[in-house]
Amino acid sequence: MIIEPRMRGFICLTSHPGGCAKNVSNQIEYLRSKGPIEGPKNVLVIGASTGFGLASRITAAFGSKASTIGVFFEKPPLPGKTASPGWYNSAAFHQEAKKAGLYAKSINGDAFSTEVKNKTIALIKADLGKVDLVIYSLASPVRTHPVTGVLHRSVLKPIGSTFTNKTVDFHSGVVSNISIEPCNEEDIANTVAVMGGEDWEMWMDALLDADVLAPNAKTVAYSYIGPALTEAVYRKGTIGKAKDHLEATAFKISDKLKSIGAHAYVSVNKALVTQASSAIPVIPLYISLLYKVMKEKNIHEGCIEQIQRLFKERLYLGKETPLDTMGRIRIDDWEMREDVQAKVAELWLQANTETLPEIGDLQGYKTDFLNLFGFGFAGVDYQKDLSEMVEIEGIE
Ligand code: NAI
Repeated sequence: MIIEPRMRGFICLTSHPGGCAKNVSNQIEYLRSKGPIEGPKNVLVIGASTGFGLASRITAAFGSKASTIGVFFEKPPLPGKTASPGWYNSAAFHQEAKKAGLYAKSINGDAFSTEVKNKTIALIKADLGKVDLVIYSLASPVRTHPVTGVLHRSVLKPIGSTFTNKTVDFHSGVVSNISIEPCNEEDIANTVAVMGGEDWEMWMDALLDADVLAPNAKTVAYSYIGPALTEAVYRKGTIGKAKDHLEATAFKISDKLKSIGAHAYVSVNKALVTQASSAIPVIPLYISLLYKVMKEKNIHEGCIEQIQRLFKERLYLGKETPLDTMGRIRIDDWEMREDVQAKVAELWLQANTETLPEIGDLQGYKTDFLNLFGFGFAGVDYQKDLSEMVEIEGIE
């Protein structure tokens, strides 16, 4: 079939297998251009099919020649209905890994469940023995708790008072004011249950108990801080509470892993266009201004550039990993630079529907958004009739 983007609000209902393959091969090409990384050998990536998790898997495999097991939750294709983009990304990753002679297997299922944890451990035991890096990169709006069976839903709300600020509809470019009502206590608890550190800890407990963690193994989960502009709805909102919990959990996990010389880190990453971030009000406007400023200063990065730098200049630096005063890895250092933030804050005051095309990078935002679904890539023939029924070779 000929596959075209079908947008509905913050999501695209279709995805393009050829474009997703291009997304993966572009990332591999970038890594190869940066040379090898003396990194991990056997890697588990939880949330491996899109965004930072996919970039982590690609960096481990193509930067360090690592064997990788990926866990994700993606929709396979049906006749006449395309798969979710992470499915096509993973199919392309498996093909590229095979070509390069690299081990790659994947599990498609709910990472929050005990069943998927057990399945993953059995696969590690059978094929790899132990893993020396575990990346935890889940982003989900819901989690069914494996012990209580309760379905928790996360919310993106401020805490304490109504938040009013500018936002942009990135499809139309219209800048408007929005107000978001504050959350209640239950909203906070639910958001922490979904995006906090409990599931990461459950994974690490299970891997440790099963003796599948190599001595000196590392585990990394991803967090975000961002500027004062987005604070009320992000870092000081419900999702921020979940990130506080995730960051505190790193210390708990590190204590448990001490016996084998392993360590848990949180890496604070840069704001990027993903399905998750597009749904957060205010963030798309911030990102369009940020992209403009960072591109002008020649310090713009996407997921793969961020994770390549995380591996090469933080995790596998050859000396101790540099941390901030709260014990976190900072790879958002360029985003948070004083000159960058001062410029974004200045542009924020000027931003409206008329000025945004000039002062912001709305086009860059739109392109990145289309790219998430495999659309808008140079070198892909979007008029070509191709099959949506793509299999992933090596899926368990
Ligand atoms: P994403 O939406 O691109 O990727 C999420 C991954 O989780 C996908 O592989 C998906 O299949 C998987 N997943 C979701 N629910 C699952 C489930 N129940 N079972 C198994 N797999 C499941 O997200 P993104 O943006 O890469 O986020 C990853 C982490 O990075 C999150 O913790 C996020 O908060 C953090 N982060 C994101 C930033 C951004 O600007 N996008 C900035 C800094 C940190």
